Amino acid sequence: MSDNWPDGVGRIVLPEIDSTNAEAGRRAPDLAGPTWILALRQTRGRGRRGRGWADPPGNFAASHFSRPEAPPSDLALRSFVAALALHDALVRATGQPERFTLKWPNDVLLDGGKLAGILLESLGQGTGPRHLVIGIGVNLRHAPEGDAGALRPVSLLDETGCALDPEAFLDLLAPCFAHRERQLATFGFAPIRTAWLTRAARLGERITARSMQETRTGIFEGIDTTGALLLTTEDGPKAIPAAEVYF
Ligand code: BTN
Repeated sequence: MSDNWPDGVGRIVLPEIDSTNAEAGRRAPDLAGPTWILALRQTRGRGRRGRGWADPPGNFAASHFSRPEAPPSDLALRSFVAALALHDALVRATGQPERFTLKWPNDVLLDGGKLAGILLESLGQGTGPRHLVIGIGVNLRHAPEGDAGALRPVSLLDETGCALDPEAFLDLLAPCFAHRERQLATFGFAPIRTAWLTRAARLGERITARSMQETRTGIFEGIDTTGALLLTTEDGPKAIPAAEVYF
């Protein structure tokens, strides 16, 4: 564990697990406070929208568990916190900020290819205490085949020559994540939103947002104070709370 490891944050490293998000849910009753769960190998990684997430050895698969006091409506804002923290950690690792961009809602791109994905799962709603699990997968060494129509997957090693193992990457990421969380807690979403927008891929360009209900194409104007995607479409301005974006 590095000297920069954030105070009060747990760290669990597992040789192999099905999914770190699933493991965080199973361990929730025993976790006293915020905790990172890292797996050196993940056999049934979960992706967004019910997809799987391939995780060959050498890639990063970890989940951050917490019990945020924020109202449920604010939980989604933490995906921007996670995306920014990932960006910060990758810039620290490579010293090449201009090569990394953020794709709404929470992918990290390297030279326009998909390097990392984030999966937020909120657990224990209803009567029990609320838990938030933020799962993060980074193609540190390998770029597994992506879905048809999705962005080209890339790996950090292939694109930059930077060889980082998952534990070393967690040592970079955990302090960045703690810093961005403090920023959200102290100043609210505004500075996170501004920082996210300065790193956003395809801002001001024509993109397509596809949700269960509809597909909309328009100019990507930004994100609003709830994190919703702002598009200027033929039918006027639209705020889209959840969708998959295609370039
Ligand atoms: C995406 O579809 O882009 C999100 C992928 C998230 C994958 C990570 S790997 C660690 C954590 N555990 C999981 O089962 N999924 C997330």
